Amino acid sequence: MAQKENRFKRHTITAALPYTNGPIHIGHLAGVYVPADIYARYLRLTGKDVAFVCGSDEHGVAIPMKAKKEGITPRELIDKYHGIIKKSFEDFGITFDNYSRTSAQVHHETASEIFKKLYDQGDFVEETTAQLYDAEAQQFLADRFVVGTCPRCGHEEAYGDQCENCGSSLNATDLIDPKSTVTGGVPVLKETKHWFLPLDRHEGFLREWILKGHKKDWKTNVYGQCKSWIDGGLEPRAVTRDLDWGIPVPVKGGEGKVLYVWFDAPIGYISSTKEWAAREGRDWEPYWKEKDTKLVHFIGKDNIVFHCIIFPSILHAEGSYVLPENVPANEFLNLEGNKLSTSKNWAVWLHEYLEEFPDMQDVLRYTLTANAPETKDNDFTWKDFQARNNNELVAIFGNFINRVVVLTNKYYQGVVPGPSDLTTVDRTTLDELKRFPETISGSIDRYRFREAGQELMNLARLGNKYLADAEPWKVIKEDEARVRTIMFVALQIATGLAVLSEPFLPFTSNKLKKMLKIDQGPIEGLCWENVPNMEVLLRPGHQIDSAQLLFRKIEDSEIQAQLDKLAATKKANENENKAPMPQKDTITFDDFTKLDMRVGTILEAEKMAKTKKLMVLKVDTGLDTRTIVSGIAESFAPEEIIGKRVTVLINLAPRALRGVDSEGMILMTENADGKLVFVNPDEAGVGNGEGIS
Ligand code: MF3
Ligand code: ZN
Repeated sequence: MAQKENRFKRHTITAALPYTNGPIHIGHLAGVYVPADIYARYLRLTGKDVAFVCGSDEHGVAIPMKAKKEGITPRELIDKYHGIIKKSFEDFGITFDNYSRTSAQVHHETASEIFKKLYDQGDFVEETTAQLYDAEAQQFLADRFVVGTCPRCGHEEAYGDQCENCGSSLNATDLIDPKSTVTGGVPVLKETKHWFLPLDRHEGFLREWILKGHKKDWKTNVYGQCKSWIDGGLEPRAVTRDLDWGIPVPVKGGEGKVLYVWFDAPIGYISSTKEWAAREGRDWEPYWKEKDTKLVHFIGKDNIVFHCIIFPSILHAEGSYVLPENVPANEFLNLEGNKLSTSKNWAVWLHEYLEEFPDMQDVLRYTLTANAPETKDNDFTWKDFQARNNNELVAIFGNFINRVVVLTNKYYQGVVPGPSDLTTVDRTTLDELKRFPETISGSIDRYRFREAGQELMNLARLGNKYLADAEPWKVIKEDEARVRTIMFVALQIATGLAVLSEPFLPFTSNKLKKMLKIDQGPIEGLCWENVPNMEVLLRPGHQIDSAQLLFRKIEDSEIQAQLDKLAATKKANENENKAPMPQKDTITFDDFTKLDMRVGTILEAEKMAKTKKLMVLKVDTGLDTRTIVSGIAESFAPEEIIGKRVTVLINLAPRALRGVDSEGMILMTENADGKLVFVNPDEAGVGNGEGIS
């Protein structure tokens, strides 16, 4: 590890530029910004030269659309959210060296320059295609500005890029009876010229760099996506758009067109680095152009193709830039079992979290790290948040520190005592402490932040267990000299925690350093990499401060309040935007009489092995006892439904589900929390219009 790291003189760390069409939520923090910040802080602590950059992504068609919806100008929209987002990052201790924005002049210049250079080098192809055009508004319409009838399902309000009824993804030119959402008029087809980045020309380079290169150490999800893109055949991608919001296309014939947002946004990393360097009086170029620079992009999985295929192709074509060493993309975080969604307000917004849990940034940072969606999508639940806080931060970390500091003050007026003879346990404990920096570094260097965060907690566990076993509060009555040693050892662990917790729990680390009075730096050479070599971390005779609580317990009522808030959001969505599914085609009375529905009783229930959702039931239908396979295992435990009376459709043609013949169907619906419930309109939370299935 150490050898490999030494290859690099400096580190350029980027975090995906958030869109300024809404505030940011826990999903952003968990997937991108907390891991990136842990990484950057850790590198700085180990003495590395770091440029950690980010900024707001303010272009793209989504911005004018959202502005229109809010009744403000695009400029007002980006200013509003840029401010909110920037503040959230500061509040949560995300230590960007620079937070820029793509509307900045330096960015417009940088992106234009790179576009021009590629244009001059002949790295684009031009193509003229027919696009929908709103003659009245005199503008080409992005797919999302067109509505019409879905060619697949007949839904009359499908969007040009997607039908929300059947989920098909569409092109605006596929819609039947298209209408412009700008003027309501009927758009016409009109020819327009665009510039394309011929990714096919870069296939050789990408194969060499990603597939044959050393990128096998990339995360499997990232490497796998890249491989399938490359193997699936790369095609030219349009890098310009007909739009009046963005960076004007800086070449002849580009009038009225702008750069495609995904062309300019990643260049924002470069612009942000320039802005930082200018402010600090430094040179930005080594951070992007020297071979001994390690460039790492932190992103979410929906950004992989842009960071691993398209942006590298642009940089490679430009010719003077380094390419990313790694792109540790995360999967997605869900919230209480549902996808996070800005438009559905299904989120924990960072600014709201801080209003409700003031000064508890580290609790969220810790929980999101412990549950980081590193290898698969993960679920954030308020119960888990409470448990991580109460059982780990409070009961282990906080408890240990509190005991150490309180007892040191009580027995020794806050002066670190000198040890007498060290027992075997004392020695092994101190040896173990010294191994933690390397263990944690090893995890961070491999982008395993969950593992790293758990190792940190293991250090607190070590301390907690040491004290609980040594019981200084009992020993003090018989053997005061022994207590000096115990407190000395415990104080060494507390100091280790203060140093090693900084990347993960920066606010806590600060408080702890103040408590131990090591925040002003009287402790010579105390740092991450010296922990293993130092004889003592906190010297006998050093005066510490009095105890203050690092964490507080979170009550059930606080968690319930959050759950109630989410339930209300769900209700509001159902009432407002998410109209119940339209009525299906009318059926005849004869059709109805074909259905044979009976009241039955569940006699037995068992989860089907190796499935998440399926449960195998034995149901007494009055006629017989039959087997029914039902997709309810995520909503119920077998024991809670045995004996339950249900409605059963018994003359449904039998079908085999995972090898078990299902002979009927139990009627289910959803309650307000999206949980399945048996058909009974009086079950909690079942609203009018809920479908039965
Ligand atoms: N705004 C994009 C998103 O939120 C990310 C842009 S990353 C950049 O998905 F590289 F383009 F900047
Ligand atoms: Zn449809």
